Amino acid sequence: MVVRLDKYLADAGKGTRSQVKQYVKKGIISVNGVVVKKSDIKIDTEKDEVLFQGQSVMYSEFQYYMLNKPQGVVSATSDKKDKTVIELIEEEKRRDLFPVGRLDKDTEGLLVITNDGKLANNLLAPGKHVDKSYYVEIVKGEIDTNNEEKAGNIPAEDIETIRKAFAEGVDIGDEKLTRPAILETSGDGFLITISEGRYHQIKRMFQAVGYRVSFLKRISMGKLMLDENLKTGEYRKLTEREIDILKK
Ligand code: URA
Repeated sequence: MVVRLDKYLADAGKGTRSQVKQYVKKGIISVNGVVVKKSDIKIDTEKDEVLFQGQSVMYSEFQYYMLNKPQGVVSATSDKKDKTVIELIEEEKRRDLFPVGRLDKDTEGLLVITNDGKLANNLLAPGKHVDKSYYVEIVKGEIDTNNEEKAGNIPAEDIETIRKAFAEGVDIGDEKLTRPAILETSGDGFLITISEGRYHQIKRMFQAVGYRVSFLKRISMGKLMLDENLKTGEYRKLTEREIDILKK
């Protein structure tokens, strides 16, 4: 692929197009061992070697991160009030990154952040029905009693009723019932797998059966699993293999 030098540098996360033009003028960029002063020269991304202050710059048209989203940040690219998930990515990053879908402000867990719009559309397209699994803890009723129900404390008949209701689809006030979802017990809580992405979907599903969600964390999206080594708030680049998994 052949691109202009300023695009090459901006795509590699070195700054905006105008910032990188300034770097080129300053003479800190070299191509194949020669300092260059023009931003519009053409770079062959396969063959040319670009150095930024002596450090090699790899071209990447797209960037892909896995974030273990903490509570208290919003799944948006900008927000007047709250910190966004994009602000958590601290290393040199492209300015066109966005989160693939949304997790509520108080939801934790797996969030993919990229600038690859095609991949995002593929994962989010309503017709695709990509499975998403969440670990969830619930409390009986609407009021926060500070008395969280552990899975073991919820009567087995209740669990069975909820499991059946979710498997059949529940009325959460939308035109259609929810698509079949799977509920399994997991430690102190449950693992729920849904294949849609409606607004506050899991919270509304539990509300429909008389429970309130007190903790929610996304564990997987399609075949992509949250890396257990990522602490809440931490992120890392996706591996080539993980990118392939998402593209399939
Ligand atoms: N369902 C919810 O209710 N909230 C989320 O953040 C994700 C799924």
